[in-house]
Amino acid sequence: MIVTRQDEIEKLKEIGTIVADCLKLMLGSIEPGMTTLELDAIGKKFLDDHEAQSAPQVCYDFPGATCISLNHEAAHGIPKSNRVIQPGDLINIDVSAEKAGFFGDTGATLAFQSQNPTFKHLCSATKKALQSAMKELRPGANINVIGKAIEKTANKEKLTIIRNLCSHGVGKTLHDEPQQILSYYDPKERRVIQDGLTFTIEPFLSNGSTGVVELDDGWTLSNPKGLYSAQYEHTMIVTKSGVITTTLPSKGAPFLPK
Ligand code: CO
Ligand code: CO
Repeated sequence: MIVTRQDEIEKLKEIGTIVADCLKLMLGSIEPGMTTLELDAIGKKFLDDHEAQSAPQVCYDFPGATCISLNHEAAHGIPKSNRVIQPGDLINIDVSAEKAGFFGDTGATLAFQSQNPTFKHLCSATKKALQSAMKELRPGANINVIGKAIEKTANKEKLTIIRNLCSHGVGKTLHDEPQQILSYYDPKERRVIQDGLTFTIEPFLSNGSTGVVELDDGWTLSNPKGLYSAQYEHTMIVTKSGVITTTLPSKGAPFLPK
């Protein structure tokens, strides 16, 4: 959406803070032996307590409050009672929710009690990719500055980009205009970042995967065998006076476990 009024910015910030705090709580609550359904329940309670509704549930009838993807899975993992989190797992949590008609969307990846250098590299490089893209944002710029910056970071870090997962507009629904903001440079892109444009940036970098496939459950998007990815996602509003990141936690640094 394109935001024009201050009260809309305030509502986007309110739900943005809720999803960021929810994500931070979930990242900090992971214990070995916990199931992904138990972790989802922590997120669900937080959203309920803050009078927010899970966006994947409201918009797509997703079977869970949040998306929790483990190891080879990249996104849209279904919380399950038989899916146990173990030390050494690569965990992606994506929290998106609605309150008072406005949406926020954030996600992060954690190498849980892991010293795996591949996982650590994926996490640090993908954070850098997100930050590099956010630095390019200004009203009037082509939307392809996002993919260009992500691609530059991926190349520098010798990682691949998952090309069939995109960033997207957000606002009064989860996936709003502009749809399909690519994570790689597209010279044919003609869309321009307008003042007030509200969208996510969510690069997925991998140690070799260039695309995810949907598993038989109809939701989970997985990398090919042996390949892993990390994702970090913020929702932001581009204005003449700078970028407002709506999905910052109420206290402390984003994307870090306690
Ligand atoms: Co998300
Ligand atoms: Co998103």
